[in-house]
Amino acid sequence: MNYAVQYETYLEDFEKAVQRAMAQMNYLPAVLSSSMRYSLKSGGKRVRPVLFYAMAEILGADYRKERNFAVAIECIHTYSLIHDDLPAMDNDDYRRGRLSNHKVYGEANAILAGDALLSFAFDLLLKECGRGERQQRAALALSKAAGPAGMIAGQSADLLYTGREASEKELLFIDRHKTGKLIAAPLKMAAILAGRHEAEAENFGERLGELFQLTDDILDEKGNGKEVGKTLGKDKRAGKVTYVKLYGLRQAETVADGLQGRCLDCLDGIDADTSFLKELVYAVRNRNK
Ligand code: IPE
Ligand code: IPE
Ligand code: MG
Ligand code: MG
Ligand code: MG
Repeated sequence: MNYAVQYETYLEDFEKAVQRAMAQMNYLPAVLSSSMRYSLKSGGKRVRPVLFYAMAEILGADYRKERNFAVAIECIHTYSLIHDDLPAMDNDDYRRGRLSNHKVYGEANAILAGDALLSFAFDLLLKECGRGERQQRAALALSKAAGPAGMIAGQSADLLYTGREASEKELLFIDRHKTGKLIAAPLKMAAILAGRHEAEAENFGERLGELFQLTDDILDEKGNGKEVGKTLGKDKRAGKVTYVKLYGLRQAETVADGLQGRCLDCLDGIDADTSFLKELVYAVRNRNK
């Protein structure tokens, strides 16, 4: 199966799983449910769930039995975006080609929609924990990746250095946490559930996460706003610490090429057919959204 068809196959399965999860979101008051659904339902690339499905399948685990992990990571990612866009953080009005959550529901409701999606994800994870030790370890991996040693640490450092000088070491800390941890988590979870290649999956995820944030920063500088679905040129205006800021666009592109190569090398360490993930690495390097 070629890459695009395979991606679509994973996506179709995942969208149905998200629909089922959203059908459970019947909380009161209704504004809470609708604000949760608003951000979860559309526009995202769903790259983290696709990474989970693909790595599970490659390593011989049945992703159809483990879908709740994919839904949980997308809920956590979505909450991180809602909060990232708030006026107190990046103050972004657009996300996934639509108004940001707080532009539709107001800041307070957007904070709560994020809180609710995070808690909802943990409901799903805790339910899976009853199934066995692998599920418990996978849930713990996601919890660590999302929390104060993971994505939150990166967001905190991102804010700390905004408008200030930072070194490459600090830039790497930001990127490896705010983005790297939630890109590596689905790969690590899939490997835990499959019972093999955990270290390789995590290593690959960490490099891919770096590449993912680097291409996000490049797109902020030279992307097409319609395609990307968010307001561009904001990193420079806000004084964000990015590779583009530190070394310029051309050097950032060179570093991205190097990271692409390292991602492919990591995949060569996995004893299975990783061609889909190799294509995904190229797609991340060359993405326009
Ligand atoms: C955006 O993530 C935030 C970063 C971590 C760079 P994505 O680019 O995966 O956003 P969606 O889910 O496709 O909207
Ligand atoms: C976002 O980094 C990382 C998280 C949301 C955790 P950015 O702030 O660069 O993401 P975008 O560009 O707003 O999507
Ligand atoms: Mg941000
Ligand atoms: Mg942002
Ligand atoms: Mg960005």
